[in-house]
Amino acid sequence: MLKIENLKASIGDVEILKGIDLEISSGELHAVMGPNGSGKSTLCHVLMGNTDYEKEGKVTLNGDDVLSIPQFERAEKGIFQSFQYPVGLPGVTLKEFTESFLENVDKDELIETSKRFNVQEFLDRDVNVDLSGGEKKRSELFQLSLMKPSLALLDEIDSGLDIDAIKSVASLINENRDEKTSYILVTHYSRILKYLDVDKVHIVVNGKIVKSGSNELIEEVDSGGYTQYQEEN
Ligand SMILES: Nc1ncnc2c1ncn2[C@@H]1O[C@H](COP(=O)(O)OP(=O)(O)O)[C@@H](O)[C@H]1O
Ligand SMILES: [Mg+2]
Repeated sequence: MLKIENLKASIGDVEILKGIDLEISSGELHAVMGPNGSGKSTLCHVLMGNTDYEKEGKVTLNGDDVLSIPQFERAEKGIFQSFQYPVGLPGVTLKEFTESFLENVDKDELIETSKRFNVQEFLDRDVNVDLSGGEKKRSELFQLSLMKPSLALLDEIDSGLDIDAIKSVASLINENRDEKTSYILVTHYSRILKYLDVDKVHIVVNGKIVKSGSNELIEEVDSGGYTQYQEEN
Protein backbone atom coordinates (compact mmCIF):
# COMPACT_ATOMS: atom_id res chain seq x y z
CA MET A 1 0.00 0.00 0.00
CA LEU A 2 1.24 3.44 -0.97
CA LYS A 3 0.39 6.33 1.31
CA ILE A 4 1.17 9.93 0.35
CA GLU A 5 0.49 12.67 2.89
CA ASN A 6 0.65 16.38 2.15
CA LEU A 7 3.41 15.95 -0.42
CA LYS A 8 4.91 19.19 -1.66
CA ALA A 9 7.68 19.62 -4.19
CA SER A 10 9.42 22.66 -5.54
CA ILE A 11 12.34 23.70 -7.68
CA GLY A 12 13.92 26.93 -6.57
CA ASP A 13 11.09 29.31 -5.72
CA VAL A 14 8.56 27.46 -7.84
CA GLU A 15 6.19 25.22 -5.91
CA ILE A 16 5.00 22.48 -8.27
CA LEU A 17 3.21 20.02 -5.97
CA LYS A 18 1.15 21.85 -3.37
CA GLY A 19 0.06 19.16 -0.92
CA ILE A 20 -0.90 15.82 -2.47
CA ASP A 21 -2.75 13.20 -0.39
CA LEU A 22 -3.21 9.80 -1.96
CA GLU A 23 -3.64 6.22 -0.79
CA ILE A 24 -3.38 3.25 -3.12
CA SER A 25 -3.94 -0.25 -1.82
CA SER A 26 -1.83 -3.08 -3.16
CA GLY A 27 -3.29 -4.37 -6.40
CA GLU A 28 -5.17 -1.17 -7.24
CA LEU A 29 -4.72 0.98 -10.31
CA HIS A 30 -5.32 4.69 -9.89
CA ALA A 31 -5.45 7.05 -12.85
CA VAL A 32 -3.97 10.52 -12.39
CA MET A 33 -5.37 12.92 -14.96
CA GLY A 34 -4.81 16.60 -15.50
CA PRO A 35 -3.82 19.25 -18.00
CA ASN A 36 -0.27 19.80 -19.22
CA GLY A 37 1.96 21.34 -16.60
CA SER A 38 -0.25 20.40 -13.64
CA GLY A 39 2.48 18.36 -11.90
CA LYS A 40 1.70 14.77 -12.92
CA SER A 41 5.22 13.90 -14.07
CA THR A 42 6.67 15.73 -11.07
CA LEU A 43 4.64 13.44 -8.80
CA CYS A 44 6.18 10.39 -10.50
CA HIS A 45 9.71 11.84 -10.42
CA VAL A 46 9.44 12.72 -6.72
CA LEU A 47 8.15 9.24 -5.85
CA MET A 48 10.97 7.65 -7.84
CA GLY A 49 13.59 9.81 -6.08
CA ASN A 50 14.65 12.46 -8.57
CA THR A 51 16.88 14.80 -6.57
CA ASP A 52 16.05 17.99 -8.52
CA TYR A 53 13.16 18.77 -6.18
CA GLU A 54 12.87 20.12 -2.64
CA LYS A 55 10.30 17.93 -0.88
CA GLU A 56 8.00 18.10 2.10
CA GLY A 57 5.44 15.65 3.44
CA LYS A 58 5.39 11.91 3.95
CA VAL A 59 5.35 8.93 1.63
CA THR A 60 5.33 5.30 2.78
CA LEU A 61 5.27 2.10 0.76
CA ASN A 62 4.06 -0.91 2.73
CA GLY A 63 4.82 1.09 5.90
CA ASP A 64 8.39 2.02 5.00
CA ASP A 65 9.41 5.63 4.53
CA VAL A 66 10.26 6.38 0.93
CA LEU A 67 11.27 10.05 0.77
CA SER A 68 14.40 9.73 2.90
CA ILE A 69 16.05 7.01 0.81
CA PRO A 70 17.90 7.44 -2.52
CA GLN A 71 16.60 6.35 -5.88
CA PHE A 72 18.45 3.01 -6.09
CA GLU A 73 17.07 1.96 -2.71
CA ARG A 74 13.58 2.87 -3.86
CA ALA A 75 14.07 0.66 -6.88
CA GLU A 76 15.22 -2.13 -4.55
CA LYS A 77 12.09 -1.57 -2.46
CA GLY A 78 10.04 -2.14 -5.57
CA ILE A 79 9.31 1.24 -7.15
CA PHE A 80 9.33 1.14 -10.93
CA GLN A 81 8.91 4.13 -13.24
CA SER A 82 8.17 4.04 -16.92
CA PHE A 83 9.08 7.33 -18.48
CA GLN A 84 7.04 9.63 -20.68
CA TYR A 85 10.06 9.86 -22.98
CA PRO A 86 12.09 6.64 -22.51
CA VAL A 87 15.77 7.36 -23.11
CA GLY A 88 17.95 5.22 -25.34
CA LEU A 89 20.96 3.44 -23.84
CA PRO A 90 23.39 2.93 -26.71
CA GLY A 91 25.85 0.14 -25.91
CA VAL A 92 23.58 -1.67 -23.44
CA THR A 93 21.31 -4.40 -24.74
CA LEU A 94 17.86 -4.92 -23.29
CA LYS A 95 18.96 -8.34 -22.02
CA GLU A 96 22.04 -6.90 -20.25
CA PHE A 97 19.96 -4.08 -18.83
CA THR A 98 17.30 -6.45 -17.52
CA GLU A 99 19.90 -8.72 -15.96
CA SER A 100 21.53 -5.69 -14.31
CA PHE A 101 18.51 -4.95 -12.14
CA LEU A 102 17.29 -8.50 -11.57
CA GLU A 103 19.39 -10.46 -9.13
CA ASN A 104 18.66 -14.01 -10.10
CA VAL A 105 16.93 -13.73 -13.38
CA ASP A 106 15.55 -17.04 -14.53
CA LYS A 107 16.57 -17.42 -18.18
CA ASP A 108 13.39 -19.31 -19.10
CA GLU A 109 11.20 -16.68 -17.45
CA LEU A 110 13.08 -13.94 -19.29
CA ILE A 111 12.54 -15.61 -22.65
CA GLU A 112 8.92 -16.53 -21.91
CA THR A 113 8.15 -12.98 -20.74
CA SER A 114 9.90 -11.44 -23.76
CA LYS A 115 7.60 -13.47 -26.00
CA ARG A 116 4.53 -12.43 -24.04
CA PHE A 117 5.47 -8.77 -24.55
CA ASN A 118 6.65 -9.40 -28.08
CA VAL A 119 10.10 -7.95 -27.41
CA GLN A 120 12.13 -11.10 -28.03
CA GLU A 121 13.76 -9.60 -31.12
CA PHE A 122 14.86 -6.55 -29.08
CA LEU A 123 16.70 -8.51 -26.37
CA ASP A 124 20.05 -8.29 -28.13
CA ARG A 125 19.54 -4.73 -29.31
CA ASP A 126 20.38 -1.54 -27.41
CA VAL A 127 17.71 -0.37 -24.95
CA ASN A 128 15.18 1.95 -26.62
CA VAL A 129 17.45 2.67 -29.58
CA ASP A 130 15.64 2.84 -32.92
CA LEU A 131 12.37 1.57 -31.47
CA SER A 132 8.95 2.96 -32.30
CA GLY A 133 6.84 4.54 -29.54
CA GLY A 134 4.80 1.37 -29.07
CA GLU A 135 7.90 -0.85 -29.04
CA LYS A 136 9.49 1.31 -26.31
CA LYS A 137 6.35 1.01 -24.18
CA ARG A 138 6.27 -2.78 -24.62
CA SER A 139 9.93 -2.90 -23.64
CA GLU A 140 9.18 -0.93 -20.45
CA LEU A 141 6.22 -3.14 -19.57
CA PHE A 142 8.40 -6.21 -20.15
CA GLN A 143 10.89 -4.85 -17.59
CA LEU A 144 8.03 -4.11 -15.20
CA SER A 145 6.72 -7.64 -15.54
CA LEU A 146 10.09 -9.17 -14.64
CA MET A 147 10.69 -6.77 -11.76
CA LYS A 148 7.26 -7.36 -10.16
CA PRO A 149 7.31 -3.99 -8.37
CA SER A 150 5.23 -2.92 -5.38
CA LEU A 151 4.57 0.43 -7.04
CA ALA A 152 4.51 1.02 -10.78
CA LEU A 153 4.53 4.60 -12.05
CA LEU A 154 3.36 4.72 -15.65
CA ASP A 155 3.77 8.26 -16.95
CA GLU A 156 1.86 8.91 -20.20
CA ILE A 157 2.36 5.35 -21.34
CA ASP A 158 -0.22 6.10 -24.04
CA SER A 159 1.54 9.17 -25.46
CA GLY A 160 2.39 9.02 -29.13
CA LEU A 161 0.63 5.69 -29.64
CA ASP A 162 -2.00 4.96 -32.27
CA ILE A 163 -5.26 3.38 -31.21
CA ASP A 164 -4.17 -0.23 -31.84
CA ALA A 165 -0.96 0.28 -29.87
CA ILE A 166 -2.98 1.84 -27.02
CA LYS A 167 -5.24 -1.22 -26.91
CA SER A 168 -2.26 -3.55 -26.96
CA VAL A 169 -0.41 -1.63 -24.20
CA ALA A 170 -3.63 -1.63 -22.12
CA SER A 171 -4.07 -5.38 -22.46
CA LEU A 172 -0.43 -5.95 -21.45
CA ILE A 173 -1.07 -3.85 -18.33
CA ASN A 174 -4.25 -5.81 -17.60
CA GLU A 175 -2.50 -9.17 -17.95
CA ASN A 176 0.24 -7.99 -15.63
CA ARG A 177 -1.97 -6.81 -12.75
CA ASP A 178 -1.62 -8.74 -9.51
CA GLU A 179 -2.53 -8.21 -5.86
CA LYS A 180 1.01 -7.07 -4.98
CA THR A 181 1.45 -4.10 -7.30
CA SER A 182 -0.11 -0.64 -6.94
CA TYR A 183 -0.27 1.37 -10.14
CA ILE A 184 -0.26 5.11 -10.74
CA LEU A 185 -1.15 5.62 -14.37
CA VAL A 186 -0.70 9.20 -15.51
CA THR A 187 -2.50 10.39 -18.60
CA HIS A 188 -4.17 13.49 -19.94
CA TYR A 189 -6.31 11.57 -22.41
CA SER A 190 -9.08 9.24 -21.33
CA ARG A 191 -8.62 6.84 -24.25
CA ILE A 192 -6.40 4.23 -22.59
CA LEU A 193 -8.53 4.23 -19.41
CA LYS A 194 -11.46 2.75 -21.32
CA TYR A 195 -9.48 -0.46 -21.77
CA LEU A 196 -8.29 -0.67 -18.16
CA ASP A 197 -9.90 -1.68 -14.89
CA VAL A 198 -9.44 1.61 -13.02
CA ASP A 199 -10.07 1.60 -9.27
CA LYS A 200 -9.96 5.34 -8.77
CA VAL A 201 -9.43 8.53 -10.76
CA HIS A 202 -7.74 11.68 -9.46
CA ILE A 203 -7.76 15.03 -11.22
CA VAL A 204 -4.62 17.10 -10.65
CA VAL A 205 -4.74 20.81 -11.42
CA ASN A 206 -2.00 23.23 -10.51
CA GLY A 207 -0.18 20.83 -8.18
CA LYS A 208 -3.22 19.68 -6.21
CA ILE A 209 -5.74 16.87 -6.44
CA VAL A 210 -8.94 18.82 -7.02
CA LYS A 211 -11.27 15.84 -7.39
CA SER A 212 -11.14 12.07 -6.82
CA GLY A 213 -13.73 9.51 -7.72
CA SER A 214 -14.56 6.35 -9.58
CA ASN A 215 -14.40 5.98 -13.32
CA GLU A 216 -17.38 8.19 -14.02
CA LEU A 217 -14.81 10.99 -13.68
CA ILE A 218 -13.33 9.77 -16.96
CA GLU A 219 -16.60 10.62 -18.71
CA GLU A 220 -16.74 13.95 -16.91
CA VAL A 221 -13.25 14.87 -18.17
CA ASP A 222 -14.19 13.73 -21.67
CA SER A 223 -17.29 15.89 -21.84
CA GLY A 224 -16.17 18.97 -19.91
CA GLY A 225 -12.37 19.02 -20.28
CA TYR A 226 -10.12 20.27 -17.51
CA THR A 227 -11.33 23.87 -17.52
CA GLN A 228 -14.33 22.83 -15.38
CA TYR A 229 -11.87 22.09 -12.57
CA GLN A 230 -9.57 25.02 -13.24
CA GLU A 231 -12.40 27.46 -12.76
CA GLU A 232 -13.03 26.08 -9.29
CA ASN A 233 -9.41 26.78 -8.35
N1 LIG B 1 13.13 20.90 -13.74
C1 LIG B 1 12.17 21.85 -13.69
N2 LIG B 1 12.49 23.15 -13.46
C2 LIG B 1 11.54 24.11 -13.39
N3 LIG B 1 10.24 23.87 -13.53
C3 LIG B 1 9.86 22.61 -13.75
C4 LIG B 1 10.78 21.53 -13.84
N4 LIG B 1 10.10 20.38 -14.05
C5 LIG B 1 8.82 20.74 -14.11
N5 LIG B 1 8.66 22.06 -13.93
C6 LIG B 1 7.39 22.82 -13.98
O1 LIG B 1 6.47 22.18 -13.13
C7 LIG B 1 5.17 22.18 -13.69
C8 LIG B 1 4.65 20.78 -13.74
O2 LIG B 1 5.37 20.02 -14.69
P1 LIG B 1 5.07 18.49 -14.95
O3 LIG B 1 5.10 17.75 -13.67
O4 LIG B 1 5.98 18.03 -16.03
O5 LIG B 1 3.56 18.55 -15.50
P2 LIG B 1 2.69 17.46 -16.26
O6 LIG B 1 3.41 16.17 -16.24
O7 LIG B 1 1.39 17.42 -15.50
O8 LIG B 1 2.49 17.99 -17.65
C9 LIG B 1 5.29 22.86 -15.05
O9 LIG B 1 4.88 24.18 -14.92
C10 LIG B 1 6.76 22.75 -15.36
O10 LIG B 1 7.18 23.80 -16.16
MG1 LIG C 1 4.09 14.94 -17.83
